Amino acid sequence: MTTAPQPTASGTTDVVLEAEGLTKHFPVRKRGRELLSKTVRSVRAVEDVTLRLHRGRVTALVGESGSGKSSVARLLAQLHLQTSGTIKLHGEEVHAKGGRKFRAYSKRVQMIFQDPFASLNPVHTVRYHLTRALKIHGRAGKTPQDLEEALYDLLTRVQLTPPERYVDKFPHELSGGQRQRVAIARALGADPEALLADEPVSMLDVSIRLGVLNLLRDLKDRLRLAILYITHDIASARYFADETYVMYAGRVVEGGDSESVTQHPAHPYTQLLIDSAPDPDRPAAEEKDGGTGEPPSLIDPPPGCRFHPRCPHAMKICSDQVPPRFDVGEGHFAACWLYGEDR
Ligand SMILES: Nc1ncnc2c1ncn2[C@@H]1O[C@H](COP(=O)(O)OP(=O)(O)O)[C@@H](O)[C@H]1O
Ligand code: SF4
Ligand SMILES: [Mg+2]
Repeated sequence: MTTAPQPTASGTTDVVLEAEGLTKHFPVRKRGRELLSKTVRSVRAVEDVTLRLHRGRVTALVGESGSGKSSVARLLAQLHLQTSGTIKLHGEEVHAKGGRKFRAYSKRVQMIFQDPFASLNPVHTVRYHLTRALKIHGRAGKTPQDLEEALYDLLTRVQLTPPERYVDKFPHELSGGQRQRVAIARALGADPEALLADEPVSMLDVSIRLGVLNLLRDLKDRLRLAILYITHDIASARYFADETYVMYAGRVVEGGDSESVTQHPAHPYTQLLIDSAPDPDRPAAEEKDGGTGEPPSLIDPPPGCRFHPRCPHAMKICSDQVPPRFDVGEGHFAACWLYGEDR
C-alpha cells in the first residue's frame, strides 16, 4: 500500500508543486425550508487529493466533467482556499490567498483557462495584455526598448511570428488557437515555474489542438516548466503527458506514468474511460456508451469507494471503506480494493 505517489519511473524527484490530502468542500446555499435547518450541506468537490508536479514534466489530470479537476487547479493556484490538506511549492507550505503574498505566488504558479476569448479583454490589444503581465511581475525592463524586446520575445516563444504582425491585434482579430497562444504568452510573462492548464485545447478546433499541445510540450522542454494538463480526454493524456492521474467524483483513483495508466489501466473507472473513449480504429457502432450510470452527487457522495454504484466488480468492502492507494506496478497505483493484499 502506498501513502504518497512514488518517484516517477525515471527516478525524477525534482518536485515543484505538490498537494497532499487536498480537500475542498463548497457550502451549498440554503433555499426555502432549508433556511430553518441548522445543517450546512456542502459539495464535496475535492477529497484527499495527493499529487506532485515535476520540473520539466507534464502531468495530466483526467476525469469527466464535474469530477473536480478545475477545483484542484484553482486550489493549486490559490484562487480557492482548501478546506484541508496542504500545498507545497519546493517543499514549503503555501498560504497565499489574497494580497502581496498571492502576487508573489502567482508569479511562480500561473494558470491557463479553457476559453481564451473569455480570458482576454476584447477592448485591449495583445500589447496591452502582455505589457500588463510583464509590468505586474517586474519584467518590463527600464526602457521602452526593453519592453518591446520582452514583448517580441514572449510572442516568439509561443510561435506567433513575426511578432510585429500580432502585437497590435485585438482578440477578435485572432483565431482561437492564436488567442490561446496569447494567453500562454501572458502566463509566461511572469516567468513561472509551474503552469496549470485547465482544458487548454478543449474549446479549440480539433485541427489546431495538436499545435497548441506541441507548443506546451516545447515550453516544458525548453523552459523546464512543471505543467499540469487538465483534460477529459484520456487519449490526449497518453500522447502528451509524462504522468497521468485519473479523478473520479472528487478523488484520485489511479496514477502513474502515462504509458502504464493508459495501456494497462488498473482501476475499473479508468478501464471504463478508456473503453468509452472514441477510437479511430473502431467503428462508431461498436463504441460503448460510457458504461452504466452517471457520476454521483457530490453533496451526498456514495460511502466507501465513490465508484461502487457503477462498478462491475464491487464487493462488500467497497461500500464500507474508502480504498487506499495500492501499488499495481512501478510508480503506478490504483485506489481500488481489487488490489488489496489479501485479494
Ligand atoms: N465555486 C463553487 N461553488 C460551489 N460548487 C462548486 C464551485 N466550483 C465547483 N463546484 C462544484 O464542484 C464540483 C466539481 O467541479 P469542477 O472542479 O468544476 O469539475 P471539473 O473541472 O472536473 O468539471 C461540481 O459539482 C461543481 O458544481
Ligand atoms: S474499490 Fe470496489 S467498487 Fe471501487 S473500483 Fe475497486 S472494485 Fe470497484
Ligand atoms: Mg473544469
